[in-house]
Amino acid sequence: MKAKKGFTILALESSCDETSAAVVVDGTEVKSNVISSQINTHQKFGGVVPEIASRKHLENITPVVEKALRQGNVTLEELNAIAVTYGPGLVGALLVGVSTAKAMAYALNIPLIGVHHLAGHIYANFLVCPNLKLPVICLVVSGGHTSLILWKDHGDYEMLGSTRDDAAGEAFDKIARALGLGYPGGPLLEKEALKGDPQAIVFPRAWLEEESFDFSFSGLKSSVLNYLNRAKQMDEEVNIPDVAASFQEAVVDVLVTKTVKAAVEKGIDTITLAGGVAANQYLRQRLLADAKRHGIKIICPQLIYCTDNAAMIGCAGYFQYLQGKTSDLNLNAIPNLALY
Ligand code: KG4
Ligand code: ZN
Repeated sequence: MKAKKGFTILALESSCDETSAAVVVDGTEVKSNVISSQINTHQKFGGVVPEIASRKHLENITPVVEKALRQGNVTLEELNAIAVTYGPGLVGALLVGVSTAKAMAYALNIPLIGVHHLAGHIYANFLVCPNLKLPVICLVVSGGHTSLILWKDHGDYEMLGSTRDDAAGEAFDKIARALGLGYPGGPLLEKEALKGDPQAIVFPRAWLEEESFDFSFSGLKSSVLNYLNRAKQMDEEVNIPDVAASFQEAVVDVLVTKTVKAAVEKGIDTITLAGGVAANQYLRQRLLADAKRHGIKIICPQLIYCTDNAAMIGCAGYFQYLQGKTSDLNLNAIPNLALY
């Protein structure tokens, strides 16, 4: 499908605990990207409470959309399409975005584009690099997913490997909680790790089978929890920054090694990063250094486009529209939606 110059998409994202709306022109020009985070609400529970998340999305969605249109300096009549995350995610949370998007597309009589949340994370790379040439390797690391993907062409993904248990972000969040660092754990643990020694404690790495690009973080998680329990039983003092740095080192070591190996084996010269954990500076630096040794280029979205946001959904939605992959008004939220 052809899109006229200045094609303007309003994108919505509400799959977890961020209500976000963005105005994206021609796929990569972000006019506005409003994110209303519910972190403060969920903080006291130590994680996202699905029922509360849905209610907060309901309260937030209209003001967030209005703000995105105002900041983007566009009227409803100037919109050419509505893009929305329809899965995977929390069903009640997804439904708020999906219902809003359907109502707007119907009222304005413009196309509706249902977008996979991970496709959004992956396409955030086009926001930092609009001329990105495919194929590339993409490491998707978020709170719910850890996948190594050969991104062959628009909408064409080959899953090389994924986590067999916890997602990387989930492991960060659980260990951060065990260390008493709070929620959300990833950024807090990274900050704590800056003060520690990554070589202080050798935690196990799950390399799995020689040829496997799968990941596993549950053994590492148990090992850190055992380390903390043992210290407590022995009444020994724990050096929290050292535990944080050594845990982060173990996660990053496996992520970087497998990602670079995948690029080398598949003969791909560019690695892209996606998802909330891609905001981790230690991961970025280590990946950059390792890839450089193999002559491989690294592309990382700006921090704001790594964690959940609607601009990435608008970007993915635009390229989907060009392929004619639009949705009808029966679009429903699919909590366990597959990438292809
Ligand atoms: O992509 P995202 O915003 O939401 C999901 O789709 O899951 O990712 C959130 C995850 C959380 O687990 C959070 O702790 C982690 O990304 N995260 C980080 C960092 N920033 C966010 N993990 C490690 N280091 C960070 N700087
Ligand atoms: Zn996400």
